[in-house]
Parts: sequence; structure tokens; C-alpha cells
Amino acid sequence: MDAERQHLLDRLAAMEAKALEAGGQERIAKQHAAGKKSARERAEALVDVGSFVELDRFVTHQCRDFGMADQIVLGDGVVTGFGRVDGRLVYVFAQDFTVFGGSLSGAHARKICKVMDMATKNGAPVVGLNDSGGARIQEGVESLGGYADIFLRNVLASGVVPQISAILGPCAGGAVYSPAITDFIAMVDQTAYMFVTGPDVIKTVTREDVTKEALGGADAHNRVSGVAHFKVPDEDAMMALVRELLSYLPSNNMEEAPKRPTADPVDRACPDLVEIVPTNPNKPYDVKDVIHGIADEGRFLEVHGGYATNIVVGFCRINGRSIGVVANQPASLAGCLDVNASIKAARFVRTCDAFNVPLLTLVDVPGFLPGTAQEHGGIIKHGAKLLYAFAEATVPKVTLILRKAYGGAYDVMASKHIRADLNFAWPTAEIAVMGAEGAVNIIFRAELAKAADPAARRAELVADYREKFANPYRAASLGYVDDVIRPEDTRKRLAQAFESLKDKREQNPPRKHGNIPL
Ligand code: HXC
Repeated sequence: MDAERQHLLDRLAAMEAKALEAGGQERIAKQHAAGKKSARERAEALVDVGSFVELDRFVTHQCRDFGMADQIVLGDGVVTGFGRVDGRLVYVFAQDFTVFGGSLSGAHARKICKVMDMATKNGAPVVGLNDSGGARIQEGVESLGGYADIFLRNVLASGVVPQISAILGPCAGGAVYSPAITDFIAMVDQTAYMFVTGPDVIKTVTREDVTKEALGGADAHNRVSGVAHFKVPDEDAMMALVRELLSYLPSNNMEEAPKRPTADPVDRACPDLVEIVPTNPNKPYDVKDVIHGIADEGRFLEVHGGYATNIVVGFCRINGRSIGVVANQPASLAGCLDVNASIKAARFVRTCDAFNVPLLTLVDVPGFLPGTAQEHGGIIKHGAKLLYAFAEATVPKVTLILRKAYGGAYDVMASKHIRADLNFAWPTAEIAVMGAEGAVNIIFRAELAKAADPAARRAELVADYREKFANPYRAASLGYVDDVIRPEDTRKRLAQAFESLKDKREQNPPRKHGNIPL
């Protein structure tokens, strides 16, 4: 090779080496000591081995104030590119805390916008690996503009390609609004935190003393605020989670999630489900046992598991097909619907509908949670979200009533009336306006007041009401449930149902967009 050509290649090699240096060995070592990987290590850990292709390695910031002209780092604090997850194309950006604390400059924002634009154009998910001190303070409004450019793209990509936010360090100030618009947020326990205003500002304004962890750590957002959908113990678990989550989703809204072959027989009997519902209607059981019993290999990826535990949502597969499950949880608040459960489930239903994932709804709901806190907290508008979400969803919808389906909650939980495609009930189902005790107290109040032995008469009337209404046959006689099925046949019957619906085509009336009560 001639000297001139060799020089050109040497220059590229030198530039590449410089880009790899990022914030320098010392800062990388500090990052490692804190249990955190560097940005490139993270991007590479996320995608299939050797598949990561980096873009914009040589981008630099344009700031010349505050001595920034002497602090030019190739790549400017974010590693961007694409790779494959289970062979499927995925775009990635990974903020690099070793470069100005991963703070967002105009150039940094443009790099993120570039991969977001490519992802939307090419119909592939975007995974953001967030670890940033927020706006690049030296750049001021250019950084704020950069954030807004990202927010706009998050909104326009919403429902077009899956967007997943992994929070692996700080994510504070207005920066939180990019993850907030994405489909899923996952946080690493103890190292990730998200808040709009941090502990210092809070102390100044309200005099409240709070730690970063208590204010916006993984636990706070998974259990209390519901901002985050997943909490993981470390970064390896994060990458495994994101990869698994992507496996349940299509690459974009024009596709379906990939089918995964299963060795689990589609007609496998489920003997464990036969006695799962207690004969005493007031006794709880864990609805997740039902989901595990039905799902391929018993596998269920729960979403939002720490929040509003009275409803369970997540992904499983039946006969290899990705299914979004929404299930009342009798083991928590008796499975009542409340504000948080309604919001949680409505969001999940819309996510599944946006990405063509069929919905399985398992119903055991005694009604909406009564009380001033709920009414004043807006259960009317929040409960309406769930009703709206189920009604508007056009993906295949299969509903199975396990036990209680009372009152308005019967309608809301993907009933036939709001366009569920196939509705089944177990023989243990009780479909009525309310429970037998409550019903008897109301409709026989006068008679009970006059009865010689009110307790005995009440017991008689309750038994009679239960016999007449606490069963699925009234609803079945009206065609509101399509069949009453044996619990041991559940997996087979659901698999047949989803198979029959796989080519379902349904459209909502043309309009700019509906007006879901927010
Ligand atoms: C420029 C920053 C920076 C920032 C950190 N650094 N944040 N540089 N802009 N926003 C730099 C530090 O100067 C330091 O540089 C290096 O990153 C590591 O930071 P440390 O403070 O040493 O790390 P640590 O102790 O782990 O603390 C991390 C931190 C803290 C909690 C994130 O750095 C911090 O509070 N940063 C400021 C956060 C902030 O106020 N951001 C703006 C928020 S407003 P050296 O050279 O020493 O390694 C905002 C608005 C967004 O983001 C609005 C969008 C609409």
C-alpha cells in the first residue's frame, strides 16, 4: 500500500480509537465501579452478539462557551446505531455518562433524532438506554430545543414502532418526558431514578426532605406512581427483559408479533384449573395461576407487576402467538376496579391494540371500589378509560369469566356488548347486577323487616337469588357468553378461539382521533 493511502487508513484508525475513549479510562472505571456499563457495552449487550452497527461516532458539539471549545469528545455523549434482537432490526441510543454526565447537547439530540427517524421510516423498534444528567448546562436553550425535537418524534412514532426506555442512571427534569411517552419504562433497582424536580428543589420549595431513591427510584415508580412498568436488579437483567419484551411485539404497527413454535400441546388439558376457584365466593385465589396454567410453557411476562395489583396485565403466548392478558386479581382488593387499576389496564389494552397483539381478558370482578377517595379521585373518568380502551380495540378479543362479573364492571371487562369477539364462562361464573347478599338486602328490605326470623329468611332468599342469577346460564341464554366451558379444556378452547380470529379485520369509523377521557 502506498504511503498516502496508509496515512488515510491510519487517520481513520486514530479517529476510531479516539471515539472509543469517550470520557476517558478514569470515568469509565468509575462507571464500572458503580455497577454500570459504558454506553457501547450496553448497546452491544442489548443486541445479538456482533450485530451492533454504530452511527455518528465522529459527531461533536458546537458549543464554544465556558471552555467547551477545548472539550470536544467524539460522539458527544451518546452512542447511536442499530442491531438485531433475535434477528430482528432494532434502533438503539445509549447515553454515555462518562461524557459530560451523559448530558444532552444539540448534537447529542440530533443523533438521537436521526435514529428515531430511521426507526420510524424502516418500521423497527427504538430502545433508549438512558443515563444522563439532563440538559447540557453549557448549551442552554439549544439543549432544551433538542429535548423537544426528541419529544415530538416520540409522539409521532407512538403506535407506529414500539419504543422502550431503559433507565440505567439519572433521568431528571424535563428529560423524563421522552421515556414517559414511550410504550414501556424499565428501571434498574437502586441506580436509576426519575423526577421532574429533584430533592434539592423540593427542599427549597416545600421544605420536604426526601432522598433521590425515595422520590424517584425504581421502587417508587414501580409501586407508587406507576410511571415505570418494570424493575430489574441489574443491567444484565435489563437487557434480558428488553429482549424478551420485544419478542412479544411486532417490529411496527403493520406487522404481527413473531410466532414462536412451542412444544406445549395446544390441546393440553389443565387439571389444575378445575378447582382453582374456591366454592366460597368471598375467598381469594391468585389469577396468575390461571394465566400460567393456560400459557405456552406456563410463561407469563407481567407488566406493571408492582402497581395496582388488583389487576394483572402482561404477555404470554398461546399456540406460539403473542397474547396480551388483562385479568382481575381476586387476591388483591378482591379484584375490584379502582382508579389505578383502570388506568393501568387501559394503557395496556391500547398498547396491545396499537401493535396488533390479541387480548385475553380473564374476569373475576365484584365491581368498582366504593368510597369517597375513589369518587373524588375520578373513578368515573378513569374507569371510562378502560371501557373506552376495550371498546375501541379492534384486535381479536377473547373473554373468559372465571367467577364474578358484577354490575358496570361486567360491561367494562371486555363484554360482548363492547365488541369482544368470543366470550366464555366457567361453570363457576356469577354474572349479575350485584352479589346475592347485596341484591337480597335491597329488593327484599321490606319483607326482611317484617320476617319472624330475618336471618333464616335472608339465607333462604340469598340461596334462591344465587341459584337463579349467580351462574353463567342467564347470560348464555341471551348469547352474551358464547359458551360455558370446562376449566380443564381452557387452553384448548382459547387456542381455538384465537386461531379462528387470526384474520379478523375490523375498523373504527374514520375520524381524526377519538377523545378518550384523559
Ligand atoms: C453538563 C454535566 C451535567 C449537565 C453532569 N455533568 N450533569 N455537564 N451538563 N447537566 C458533568 C459533571 O460536571 C461531571 O463532569 C460529570 O458530568 C459527572 O457528574 P458528577 O456530578 O460528578 O456525577 P454524580 O456525582 O454521579 O452526579 C450526577 C448528577 C449531577 C446527579 C446527574 O451531575 C447533577 O446533578 N447534574 C446536574 C443535573 C441538572 O441539574 N441538569 C439539568 C436539569 S434541567 P466532570 O468533568 O467532573 O466529570 C434539565 C431540563 C431538561 O435537564 C428540560 C427538557 C425539556
